[in-house]
This record gives sequence, C-alpha cells and structure tokens, in this order.
Amino acid sequence: MTVKIPLLRPYFDSEELEEIKIVLDSGWVSQGPKVKEFEDKIAEYLDVKYAIAVTNCTSALHLALLGIGVKEGDGVLVADFTFPATGHVVLYCGAKPVFVDIDLKTYNINPESIEEKISDKTKAIIPVHTFGQPAEMGPIMEIAEKFNLKVIEDAACALGAKYKNNYAGTIGDIGCFSFHARKGMTTGEGGMVVTDDESLADRIRKLSVFGMTSAWDREKSAEFIIPEFTDLGYNYKLSDISAAVGVAQLKKLDKIIERKRELAKYWNEKLEEIELIDAPYVSKNVKHIYQSYVALIDKAINRNKLIDALTKKGVQTQIGTYASHIQPVYNSTDKCPNSLDIFNRSLALPMYYMLKEEDIDVAVAHLKKAVDVLK
Ligand SMILES: Cc1ncc(COP(=O)(O)O)c(C=O)c1O
Repeated sequence: MTVKIPLLRPYFDSEELEEIKIVLDSGWVSQGPKVKEFEDKIAEYLDVKYAIAVTNCTSALHLALLGIGVKEGDGVLVADFTFPATGHVVLYCGAKPVFVDIDLKTYNINPESIEEKISDKTKAIIPVHTFGQPAEMGPIMEIAEKFNLKVIEDAACALGAKYKNNYAGTIGDIGCFSFHARKGMTTGEGGMVVTDDESLADRIRKLSVFGMTSAWDREKSAEFIIPEFTDLGYNYKLSDISAAVGVAQLKKLDKIIERKRELAKYWNEKLEEIELIDAPYVSKNVKHIYQSYVALIDKAINRNKLIDALTKKGVQTQIGTYASHIQPVYNSTDKCPNSLDIFNRSLALPMYYMLKEEDIDVAVAHLKKAVDVLK
C-alpha cells in the first residue's frame, strides 16, 4: 500500500545544500571546524557553557554515564517508557538499569515513583522528555539533591522544549539530544551532549575521540603535538558533513516547532470528534515541541489493528514507544504497569513541518471509520 500521509518527513531547503557545499569545498569532512560551529550554535541556543557533538543520542547518553563515573555494580534509574537506547547505555557501562514507572497523563517518569527505587547502589536518574514534553524536572532535581544523585536528561526528542523557563536538557547535570530523522531537527544521525560543568565536558569530549586530544585541538596548536591516549575512549565523532546539515537545520528549528504546535492544536480539535481516542495531555509547566504527536486509544480498541487499518488507507502511524522493563535484554523484575498500559495503547499520528490541515482531515476521516469498525 502506498503511503499517502507519512508519519514524518524531515524538512530541508537549499540552506542544507549550501552548508554541505562549504564543507565539501573545504576538504575537511570529518570532525573539524563545522562541528565546532554547530556545537557553538547549540550552546548559544540553549545558553549552556559546553556542547559536544557525537554520532547519536545513544553515544551521548553512554558518554554522559561514563562522564559521571557510572561503572560495574552501579544502579541507574531510567524512565521506563522510552526507546530502549536509554536502558542500553546503562548496560554498556556494566551497570544495572532500574526502571521507574511513568505518569499516565504525561507519559513521563513519575517523580512519586522514584524514591522507592533508590538503593545504596544508585548513582543517577535518567528522566526522558517523552515525545518532546519535558519531565517534571522540579521534583526530580529535589530528589536527586536529597539522595546525592546525578541527573542525565534524555532530551533526545526535546531540543527547543521548555520546563518552566528552562530548556529541556539544561536542568540536570548533563543533557543529551538526538538528531535522528524523526527528531525536531535532523542531521540524518547525530547527537549532542550539553553541560555547564567544565570537567565533565572535558572528560566527555576526550572519551568521544578515543580518549585522546582531538584533531581539532591539535590543528589549532602552533606546535607539533603527538597525542597521548590516556583513556579507553570511543570514536563517537560527528562529521563536518553532518554538522553542516545541523547548522542549517538549527536556523529553522523554532519555525518548525511553531508550525508543529499549530498542527497539534488542529489535531487536538479534530480528535475531540472521535470517541475512544484522547489527544495528548500537556502539563501547564512545559512547552511541548511535539517531536511526536501521540494519542491514547481506549482499551476497547485493538491499537495494532487500528495501525493496520490506517496503513491500508495510506496513513502511516506507529506505536508511541516501548515499555523497557518487558524487553528480554534487560531481564528485569521491575513492575511498571502504567508504562505497559501506555505501550499497548499509544498511537503516534502523522506530525511534521510540511503536514497540512487537509492531511489531518483525511487521516481523521479514516481514523473515525476504523474506530467504528474495531470498537
Ligand atoms: C528517548 C530516546 N532516547 C534515546 C534515543 C536514541 O537516539 P539516537 O537514535 O540518536 O541514538 C532515542 C531515539 O529514538 C529516543 O527516542
């Protein structure tokens, strides 16, 4: 079946090509001056001191955990309802992900469920800003302070979102962003670590380039320097070609966000016409950027059959995201009933800058018919 209304579409124009051409013409295509420019622009946008570009948000989260010293035997609290990259990075460090249940309305980690999961092994909390709606960072930071835990924000979906007046990703000790194709802005694949802590930033940068001084630092030096490999680092460098796309995308990020917020309002109005489907709830404390627009389907309807019915009509939809604790890789004994419920009932609907109100009308007409058949 041909897709008439896709779930997402990245938005590019001639600016991306112009930026890429500058990089190709310069001859410096791996990590170099364009990455530096991209990092500086992200740091300026978020008003943070340090930004380190990396290959994706998974490597950003991995480096963040290594940066704060998470190691074998440690425990890290992870919001359960997330793409499993969030739990995976804890395992990469030899530590144990301890999954915390979510709030049924916001789909974000429930601060009231955090304390009972803290043990003497716990080193950090990773709240996830699910689908671009920031988690309740106020209470989360209070708990972290009380128990002396670090907070790493999984802001993969939330560049430009705000909790109260602060950008998501700038409230905890470290923020991690994704530039995957499904995010608000994209570099194809890409990620960024941000922090205000200089020593954390230095450590993370070093670990992102094999545990050695980066090529860019050496290039700037007046003297010939042979680098030393002081740590077991990784090759998590973003390329200048990807950064070129990022520089161009960042210029339009706010425009993309504003359009998606308009489209979300339209979706909200339209979904009121369909019983058994609820529009996403938005907390009064946040600016939601709608990386995804995720509705909730009543238990009376089989969500997977609804996805199939819409696919047959050319409307692409998807599950929201995953309940981590039931993924076999984690072998977890945690119980997160809210996350499991939302995993089974959430439905991501088409949402992207170039989506038109008329597309939403068509999708809603198909949704109504499918719901009538399935209820
Ligand atoms: C909440 C969350 N965290 C982490 C990731 C991993 O991001 P990346 O694909 O850039 O590694 C994703 C990707 O979908 C995500 O949604």
